[in-house]
Amino acid sequence: MRSFIVANWKMQLADAQSIALAAAFASGDEHVDLVVCPSFTALSGVAQVLRGGSVSLGAQDCAGEERAALTGAVSPSDLASLGCRYVIVGHSERRRHLGETDAMVARKLQAALASGLQPILCIGETEEEWRTGQRDVALRRQLTGAIAPCGFSMTQPLMVAYEPVWAIGTGHASSPSDAVDAAKLITEAALATCGTQATFHTIVLYGGSVDARNIPAFARAGMAGFLIGTASQSEEGLRSVIAALASAS
Ligand code: PGA
Repeated sequence: MRSFIVANWKMQLADAQSIALAAAFASGDEHVDLVVCPSFTALSGVAQVLRGGSVSLGAQDCAGEERAALTGAVSPSDLASLGCRYVIVGHSERRRHLGETDAMVARKLQAALASGLQPILCIGETEEEWRTGQRDVALRRQLTGAIAPCGFSMTQPLMVAYEPVWAIGTGHASSPSDAVDAAKLITEAALATCGTQATFHTIVLYGGSVDARNIPAFARAGMAGFLIGTASQSEEGLRSVIAALASAS
């Protein structure tokens, strides 16, 4: 099965760097489905270099409404018009530094779905929750808080990135078996929240210090895909991650 890599470039690259990096991968790769998520200002330029190819475009966030008096916010329908297929919602950096709550994330998820975007919902426990055995409670709280308002209406796949906060940008990834265990919990909790009549299927990605050294073990353990920050932000880094993933299949 082809694996899925979502490259989260955060605010780390200037627009010209994002466009050049996207251009280097625009011809696609037989081993992975690649989604690149540059900052808002680079979306249009990156969309141009990806046009007609197999690499998809994603945004790093969207507003929880299609139109509103919300200065500085970005409408999900405008992202779709620009060529985005995906949007990351609820990233822990936004929850932590910009005060995003589960209720805000739920609105973003619904607005993204209504605009035809495929949301990638990020959830993950803090270091303290991990240390005190609260991981499962934290994951269930964030997942339910985001998807319960969607009820049965969700027909697209539910894509969730399990990203332990303590693993993001630290060089200390989760173990593959813990990530697989979290993925199982997330899949079961999604079904329990939306009921057995739910028509969607759940795809769980892992994110947090994924690199070329550890990605083969995650892939062999059964993770369907990855949300990658640091290791995706240079051509060399992203190429070696893709090569390592290909070698694991
Ligand atoms: P990282 O970031 O790969 O640098 O840990 C992952 C993310 O924040 O999505």
